[in-house]
Amino acid sequence: MQPGKRLLDKVAIISGGASGIGAETGRVFALHGAAVVLCDVQDDLGHAVAKEITDAGGVAEYHTLDVCNEAQWIALVAATEQKYGKVNVLGNIAGISGRPAGMTVQTGNIAGMELAEQSLESWNRIMAVNATGVFLGTKSVIPAMQRAGGGSIINISSICGIIGSFANAAYHASKGAVRIFSKSAAVQYAKDQIRVNSVHPGFVDTPMARPGLLGNESGKARMEATPLGRFGKPIDIAMGCLYLASDESAWVTGSELVIDGGLVAK
Ligand SMILES: NC(=O)c1ccc[n+]([C@@H]2O[C@H](COP(=O)([O-])OP(=O)(O)OC[C@H]3O[C@@H](n4cnc5c(N)ncnc54)[C@H](O)[C@@H]3O)[C@@H](O)[C@H]2O)c1
Repeated sequence: MQPGKRLLDKVAIISGGASGIGAETGRVFALHGAAVVLCDVQDDLGHAVAKEITDAGGVAEYHTLDVCNEAQWIALVAATEQKYGKVNVLGNIAGISGRPAGMTVQTGNIAGMELAEQSLESWNRIMAVNATGVFLGTKSVIPAMQRAGGGSIINISSICGIIGSFANAAYHASKGAVRIFSKSAAVQYAKDQIRVNSVHPGFVDTPMARPGLLGNESGKARMEATPLGRFGKPIDIAMGCLYLASDESAWVTGSELVIDGGLVAK
């Protein structure tokens, strides 16, 4: 490994690569020498992130992919393998909060998305993107990683996959599913040197989380709950993903990397 470049010769697919944590992870991976295949459903943003990376001298491209669509996953993995010869890393980063557009975010202990009022449709959608999407991405990439002699799959869960709260039980359930799914996949594919780990961000300032962080009571409570005294930035999470993608974490699988400013420590 060349000092300074921690992902030389790696090929990485990143879902949710058009925005927030996924976009930042793409930038960091490319900076460290990986060829990066970003995918998302926000095409303009995704193309812009890929262009930003290539303009800076990195290797990146963007593809439209709905993480709930198995055929699209299979096609993307095949195209990546055909073009770059292999797939070493998958970042399953796409996700949704499931909060209806325009809904006032919770104030204090009032969730705004109470369990007894949540529709089955909303539950199913949150589970489909956040949990089933991770299953489909993982499933689709495993044969390519077996051919490559191993790989690293990084599944973005959340602190919400470890603890409960007043809000959005479906989101918590979907992230809890990602956490334990990752451990099962890690055990199953250790024989192939495919490592699978989950990452658990706390409150990170991204387009998804911002309505619950800035300028309201909910943000105040969340800031107070974060011992390090600031919200996360996408780079805080991307650096954890960089470690898990690199060979530095060669003996790390089935683990949970909590990056939350200390929130779940208390
Ligand atoms: N921001 C936080 O505070 C926080 C905390 C814990 C976990 N997370 C998780 O981090 C991940 C990234 O979220 P973010 O905060 O960067 O938000 P974000 O909204 O900036 O990024 C999420 C991306 O996922 C994409 N996406 C949504 N549905 C998709 C689908 N069906 N197919 C493909 N792409 C889809 C969106 O278009 C978006 O670009 C999510 O899994 C989220 O649950 C975020």
